[in-house]
Amino acid sequence: MGDKGLIEHVIVNHRWVFVCLFLLPMSVVYDFVFYLRNWIVFKLSSAPKRHQQRVADVQTQVRKWINDGADTQMCTARPGWATVSFRRGKYKRTMRKISVNLVDILSVDAEKRLVRVEPLVSMGQITATLSKLGWTLPVLPELDDLTVGGLIMGCGIETSSHKYGLFQETCVAYELVLADGSLIRCSEDENPDLFHAVPWSYGTLGLLVAAELQIVPAKKYVKLDYIPTYTRESMVTTFTEAAARPEKNEFVECIVFGNDHGVVMTANMTDTCEPEKVNVLSRHWKPWFYKHVETFLSRGGSSEYIPLRDYYHRHTRSLFWSLQDIISFGNHPVFRWLFGWMVPPKISLIKLTQLEAVKRLYEERQMIQDMLVPINKLNESLDIFEAETQLYPLWLCPMLVKTTPGFIQPKRGKEEMFVDIGAYGAPKAPQYHAETTTRLIEEYVRSVDGYQMLYADTYQTEEEFRRMFNHTLYDKMRKQLDCEKAFPQVYGKVNKKVRE
Ligand SMILES: Cc1cc2nc3c(=O)[nH]c(=O)nc-3n(C[C@H](O)[C@H](O)[C@H](O)COP(=O)(O)OP(=O)(O)OC[C@H]3O[C@@H](n4cnc5c(N)ncnc54)[C@H](O)[C@@H]3O)c2cc1C
Ligand SMILES: *[C@@H]1O[C@H](CO)[C@@H](O)[C@H](O)[C@H]1NC(C)=O
Ligand SMILES: *[C@@H]1O[C@H](CO)[C@@H](O)[C@H](O)[C@H]1NC(C)=O
Ligand SMILES: *[C@@H]1O[C@H](CO)[C@@H](O)[C@H](O)[C@H]1NC(C)=O
Repeated sequence: MGDKGLIEHVIVNHRWVFVCLFLLPMSVVYDFVFYLRNWIVFKLSSAPKRHQQRVADVQTQVRKWINDGADTQMCTARPGWATVSFRRGKYKRTMRKISVNLVDILSVDAEKRLVRVEPLVSMGQITATLSKLGWTLPVLPELDDLTVGGLIMGCGIETSSHKYGLFQETCVAYELVLADGSLIRCSEDENPDLFHAVPWSYGTLGLLVAAELQIVPAKKYVKLDYIPTYTRESMVTTFTEAAARPEKNEFVECIVFGNDHGVVMTANMTDTCEPEKVNVLSRHWKPWFYKHVETFLSRGGSSEYIPLRDYYHRHTRSLFWSLQDIISFGNHPVFRWLFGWMVPPKISLIKLTQLEAVKRLYEERQMIQDMLVPINKLNESLDIFEAETQLYPLWLCPMLVKTTPGFIQPKRGKEEMFVDIGAYGAPKAPQYHAETTTRLIEEYVRSVDGYQMLYADTYQTEEEFRRMFNHTLYDKMRKQLDCEKAFPQVYGKVNKKVRE
């Protein structure tokens, strides 16, 4: 082992010292300060008043960019390390950065069943505020730190997406500052083309400054059925049938633990419970959720009642299973009792403190991808993932692709059930190679008219990318709103070459 090898060995294998003594405590402080700030702002309800002024500030920055000659393109000033996605855009270093400091919930309208929020509002903030009022979002993506802006401009999914579609389908209006500095509102009735072009556009049509989202009544618990399956056939069939019945199952997911076994989970909201079956997942000493789920393979099927907010953030503490690779003994009972309350470390702090060596290792050995494929191709897709990656667990989440026009309108013209296959971790297949393997899977996904989530790296060429995503409406809006000089194309922000 050379010097380089030794240093990497120490960083990788003893990173836990740094994690436990620095990263975790810092994460707690960070969260606490932010929580306090939000609580004060909401109490004083000062956010709505200051909203207009903050939007005017964004407009001023864009106008200044025009006056300065508009010679570089614009992006938001949010630093690459602050986002949930593990990748950072190189363009953050060269483009004109517009500060969009909009972090508050503006209003909750119970009558119209809408919440109006600023783009940097996080899912954790939303559940904390709405659940006290008896409301929730129809699609509430898992991790606390995901933001409304990122979920609209990128995409967002949760286990209720087989009923409602992607996060964007539950949004009713967007407010944007355009390349000319003007403020525009768009919805199904007002500037509908822009409204449909915004999701997946990655900030390349304008800067999002507010969004209106639907809300639905919340109940206290989720009754969750764990259904272990021991053959590929039964896993795929059980999952597909559960997804096809949204009126029966409000939430559906599956964790695939191996080529031929996995646990399908179906769930419903409820206000009543059987007290002896309540599992408060958020207690810090509780096992990581996916580990808990795995036990049902040997215990057999069962059901539990989980407090609603705990259900929504069930994968947060272990970042699905990503934390396993950062703190390998994180699920050990002793660690959970001592440090569990500080977990997970903020992804942003992990990224901020990540050394080059770790980054490189991650890039070479870790796969982080979500592929959206028609649900009738699930079995075949699992074969491909098995052959090319042998990576488990895999996350399966069903989602309805509606006929709404835009980047991912269904090619066959009618709405269609899809499944998100999430692969996070270190592939075991001997031939795994980040670029070659990802390209192979991307090609398969294109061949079945599927889509790739773009927070992850895409290795597709621009031509392939345009075949995957329908650019018709997007191109039209880019032209109409004079975006060419102001913002790069989506491909120019998400392909592997522009990211470090
Ligand atoms: C470990 C991990 C777990 C994940 N889990 C989930 C999950 O459970 N469910 C799920 O749906 N997704 C998940 N994702 C992916 C997630 O959907 C994307 O990362 C998403 O884009 C949200 O990320 P963000 O809030 O950090 O947004 P950002 O990365 O900050 O934003 C995404 C893009 O949107 C644009 N943007 C953001 N705000 C604005 C604005 N105000 N104006 C203009 N443009 C803007 C920017 O171009 C930016 O590049 C996960 C990702 C990782 C890495
Ligand atoms: C979920 O609720 C619906 C009614 O809202 C009911 O028909 C269905 O049986 C419930 N499913 C489970 C698994 O409890
Ligand atoms: C699904 O895949 C498994 C494993 O490759 C295979 O044995 C089975 O025949 C497939 N089922 C269908 C319906 O294609
Ligand atoms: C792309 O979208 C346009 C306009 O919304 C539509 O007319 C066209 O059929 C779509 N193309 C494909 C391949 O689905």
